[in-house]
Amino acid sequence: MAEGALRGHPVTGPAREGHPRLRGRLRGFRRDERGTALVEFALIAPLLFLLLFGIIDFGRALDYYNQVTQLAGQGARAAAVNRMADGTAIVGDPRNDEHIVIAGMQAAFLKFHNNVVDLLRAGGTTEGPEVYSQARRLTTWHYQWLILHEFLPLFVGQSMVNSIVGRGQRFYRPRKGEAFIPVEFQAAAYRFGHSMVRPSYRANLAGDDGKPFFGMIFDPNASGSDPDDLRGGFRAPRRFVGWQTFFDFGDGQVKPNKRIDTRISTPLFDLPLGAIANHAPPVVLPVRTLLRHVTWELPSGQAIARHMDVSALSPADLDELHGYGLGLERSTPLWYYVLKEAELVEDGLRLGPVGGRLVGEVVVGLLRSDPAAYLAYDRDWRPTLPSRSKGDFDMVDFLTFAGVDPKSRGQ
Ligand code: HEM
Repeated sequence: MAEGALRGHPVTGPAREGHPRLRGRLRGFRRDERGTALVEFALIAPLLFLLLFGIIDFGRALDYYNQVTQLAGQGARAAAVNRMADGTAIVGDPRNDEHIVIAGMQAAFLKFHNNVVDLLRAGGTTEGPEVYSQARRLTTWHYQWLILHEFLPLFVGQSMVNSIVGRGQRFYRPRKGEAFIPVEFQAAAYRFGHSMVRPSYRANLAGDDGKPFFGMIFDPNASGSDPDDLRGGFRAPRRFVGWQTFFDFGDGQVKPNKRIDTRISTPLFDLPLGAIANHAPPVVLPVRTLLRHVTWELPSGQAIARHMDVSALSPADLDELHGYGLGLERSTPLWYYVLKEAELVEDGLRLGPVGGRLVGEVVVGLLRSDPAAYLAYDRDWRPTLPSRSKGDFDMVDFLTFAGVDPKSRGQ
């Protein structure tokens, strides 16, 4: 396998070698855009990632429709995932219960879908299968819209999005029906989000007996049925998320995110085993990622930059790695390189040329290769659900339609 090849895991099924590689050459690159300040969007990015690849189970969402709408009081008002008697969340992927923010977002998606069902029924669509297929399509298309129009512009920059959408992918070009998740995306570039996690968050404004609930994202000393940290797995009144901290509802409550750089928050160096899919160490998240780099034999950041024909970071840019005596400043693990590039080239506000193109091309490429996605099915489609700006749709509109916005919740 040549250095710089983009290898992949298929979207479904076991990993296999020999998938399409990075192809073509990058012609020109703009770094001049200044995006909106990132809000605390990143914490829920993995959910967006999982949803993008269809892992969320809308069939299940429909199955639970009656249960969700019949839930009395606080649970239904605030939107929480349903749990089994032992606390296990009933979600398509257990990782969506890693912490309360992502669990709350999962619940918001279910409520969104169920509200689309209500809307369709109120409009006269009553046949079950028809309601289901329309609700599924409307939900996924609105979600895909905000991935392309809000999420990607924030994280990779508008000019990168324009370049990929307008001119097509240069490197991620899966053959028809063979979409895959490149290992460079999975094990390195898309893990940029690990750098954006803060040590602690204000989960809501009034959930803790009328006071805000602040908590470390993970605290090894937290315990009990309502731990003092924000880990998932438990339901309690203060564990419902107030989205005004994470998205800008225009009420002055939104908090800016941590920038993308090579500093990682301390709690991610001591993960609770429950936050790891197989519940087994290592508990240091960067160690897990760097081990993937080694065991999956990923190309270095510099190798990918050469392949993309963009100027690579210099050894001086990565001087802190010089002291290890391993030449890491010339051949840098891709994950670290992507973080450093974002820090130096984009001031930590978004990904740089290598990370941005890798993430942007894979996300857009997957949307293009899914015949049911609006980009492939009807690229002129525009959002139709209620929004503040007709024909557009963003996360604030999404949360509002789901009924989990601060006004609907009265908090
Ligand atoms: C508190 C927040 C987060 C925690 C505790 C967390 C934890 C983890 C853990 C334990 C893994 C498995 C690592 C391994 O075994 O190699 C992982 C993988 C991953 N994480 Fe995160 N993560 C968080 C946030 C994020 C964010 C914000 C993003 C992206 C924006 C992200 C993207 C990924 C990706 C792409 C993988 C690889 C998934 C796979 O291999 O299937 N994570 N994360």
